[in-house]
Amino acid sequence: MNNDILSSVAKSIVAKQKGVLAADESNPTIKKRFDSIKVESTEENRRRYREILFTTKGIERYIGGVILFDETLRQSTQDGTPFARLLSSRGIVPGIKVDKGAKALALYPGDKISEGLDGLRDRLVEYKQMGAKFAKWRAVIEINERDVPTTFGIRANAHVLARYAALCQELDIVPIVEPEVLMDGAHSIERCEVVTSRVLEAVFSELDAHRVLFEGMLLKPNMVIAGMKCVQQASVQQIAEATIRCMARYVPTAVPGIVFLSGGQSAEDATDHLNAINAMGPHPWQISFSYGRALQAPVLEAWKGQENNLAAAQKTFLKRCQLNGLACGGTYARAMETAE
Ligand code: 13P
Repeated sequence: MNNDILSSVAKSIVAKQKGVLAADESNPTIKKRFDSIKVESTEENRRRYREILFTTKGIERYIGGVILFDETLRQSTQDGTPFARLLSSRGIVPGIKVDKGAKALALYPGDKISEGLDGLRDRLVEYKQMGAKFAKWRAVIEINERDVPTTFGIRANAHVLARYAALCQELDIVPIVEPEVLMDGAHSIERCEVVTSRVLEAVFSELDAHRVLFEGMLLKPNMVIAGMKCVQQASVQQIAEATIRCMARYVPTAVPGIVFLSGGQSAEDATDHLNAINAMGPHPWQISFSYGRALQAPVLEAWKGQENNLAAAQKTFLKRCQLNGLACGGTYARAMETAE
């Protein structure tokens, strides 16, 4: 384990107010996204779509890293350049999603646990050879009206995240640690804050026990936000304040970057919230984005699987990257959404 490599890669991903593009949808997930624009999820369509994203000119000013799915890391551009090499040559760090999805936690109805630890050391060796310099593991924490998540469910996920992070660092791969408290459901922002606090406390305690180097990792949390079905939605300022309060209490300042997931927020809301969080700065960590849907939903809409929409799709993508880049500096304004 080389501490210098780990901390310099972690820092470079979030340097100069850059963020991460999460393009690591598993095949069932990308199928759902393609279904929404009536595009068939073939291997070639998936390759072509990712190629459109990764070849967009100018994104390297705002995107420091891209998370890929296993299939995508093995794919290339039309002219035969492997995606990982293409991204590296543009100064964007390639990464790889390594969890195998969230399943029901046995004997704990409602709690989830992500699978994928078995054989992970060998998979990481191969991914590293293919050019991946960081990895991502997503733990899913659901909130229901009763007693979920349980204390045990939270602890089990924290343990697995720490096992994964240690395996990554052993091979000088920067782990992105993603404990996602879902925004599905009718819970209040206060409940989200309590659960997110318990989760982050457990995660950092396990990471520490597993000897994970905080300087050589990135945290990918949810923002503290009311459930989508909650009648009382919080304001942008309330979300920013609750999120920062939670991070300040539980995230060690040795962690170089916090890269939020979008989790089902609209593209504009995700940018607005990130902006409000950074406008409250300076903060002891770089605070940035690692968005999937909030970066890609408008691009899919513009593309619709049509080659003649290529320029429009790339223009839309660059604009979302740019606006999120501004939000990293706290200088985004909602009016910019409609400006040319
Ligand atoms: P969303 O931003 O769409 O939540 O995706 C981020 C991600 O990588 C989830 O694992």
